[in-house]
Amino acid sequence: MGKVMIAPSVLGCDQGNIAEEALALQSAGADMIHLDVMDGVFVPVLTVGAAIAESITREVDIPVDAHLMVSKPSHLIKAFADARCSYITVHAEVTSHLDRLLQQIRAAGSKAGVAVNPSTPVDFLRWVAPAVDLLLIMTVNPGYGGQKHLGYVHDKISEARRILDGHGGGGALISVDGGVTDANAEKLRSAGADILVSGSFITGSDDPAAAMEKLR
Ligand code: DX5
Ligand code: ZN
Repeated sequence: MGKVMIAPSVLGCDQGNIAEEALALQSAGADMIHLDVMDGVFVPVLTVGAAIAESITREVDIPVDAHLMVSKPSHLIKAFADARCSYITVHAEVTSHLDRLLQQIRAAGSKAGVAVNPSTPVDFLRWVAPAVDLLLIMTVNPGYGGQKHLGYVHDKISEARRILDGHGGGGALISVDGGVTDANAEKLRSAGADILVSGSFITGSDDPAAAMEKLR
């Protein structure tokens, strides 16, 4: 078990200064930047596109994960890859062609991520494991920051790890997103999370560096 990586979400940051805010989070010790992309269709809210992703990757050296909460990700993959997002993560719920989408992400030059809502089972991973670089397990229903963490999802982490490891996905990282705080970080870690995404706990605190340290 290596060191856990901390990926602050910039969803709650000043959206007019998102690149500067991301840089400040890097200076405060972030290992990755988590960029929540929402299309107003898959989830009710509308956030940012690839141009903003590009302004962030121009500023920071750490990897950026674009979490695409959109209903038609295939249209956006090239733009986010060209914006130099290290990871592009699509939701399993929006496609009947996950394998193709994951291949499309790698072909565009990024690492391929797949996200699952709290109610989405992970047995499908058995059939795409070698194509997955990152699995994003949602512990809230996506759409908003600052929601209550859904602890019943924790069992999914170890289950997913087992399936990935057993089917050629041993290299895939598991990331957990939604209501992650110092109250659940340790549990998530021991269940097998490699990356903790955290929004309000970090960006809503007076001392983001200390908040990240607490999660570690
Ligand atoms: C939810 C987003 C999360 C969220 C994290 O739709 O995908 O990344 O912003 O924020 P907190 O940690 O506040 O739940
Ligand atoms: Zn997210």
